[in-house]
Amino acid sequence: MSTLANSANIFWHECPVGKLERQKLLNQKGCVLWITGLSGSGKSTLACTVGRELHSRGKLSYILDGDNLRHGLNKDLGFKPDDRTENIRRVGEVAKLFADAGLICIASLISPYRKDRDACRAMLPDANFIEVFMNMPLELCEGRDAKGLYKLARAGKIKGFTGIDDPYETPLNCEIEIQMRDGVCPTPGAMAGEVVCYLEEKGFLQDQ
Ligand code: ADX
Repeated sequence: MSTLANSANIFWHECPVGKLERQKLLNQKGCVLWITGLSGSGKSTLACTVGRELHSRGKLSYILDGDNLRHGLNKDLGFKPDDRTENIRRVGEVAKLFADAGLICIASLISPYRKDRDACRAMLPDANFIEVFMNMPLELCEGRDAKGLYKLARAGKIKGFTGIDDPYETPLNCEIEIQMRDGVCPTPGAMAGEVVCYLEEKGFLQDQ
């Protein structure tokens, strides 16, 4: 049988500098903050605000943004279920590498299917995968429609748009849920504060 098509006869190579040493250098613990939610729910805003706050505290983070990655690494993928699954799988694998590098990796993708998010969670020790659910109502996201895509989806010009004619499966076991209070959205600073507090409490902002 040919072994050319799949990875075969390959071995794991240990490197001399390990994760613990990198974390010590950075005085933080590597982890993945996985931000999921509808288009327009504020994922990118939260990712950027958390990234800025961590930077100002001298902590190294990196954002993996769904839209941005679709310009490069994932430019061959569309929005059919299998493509989304592959999109999430690749980002999960990259996020795992960033966490292993010792960084606080902030992944911001719709990631609408529960099984795909759970597969990314399973790639890491459980506590190192922090799922953040942007629980914003569809009406709010659609009302914002910053990219005009909901309008196109409603007009039938985009097929399979999440929340319109493609499902969004809400998380069942997320670590952090961001939602409206008394009908008002928290400010970016308040949302980011909640996330950064969580990281601090769980000890990710120090190496031990
Ligand atoms: S995911 O579903 O595979 O996780 P991802 O986060 O990478 O999606 O990309 C979502 C972005 O692609 C949205 O913010 C939106 O701008 C754009 N987009 C284009 N077509 C669709 C679609 N059919 N469904 C959802 N988002 C879409």
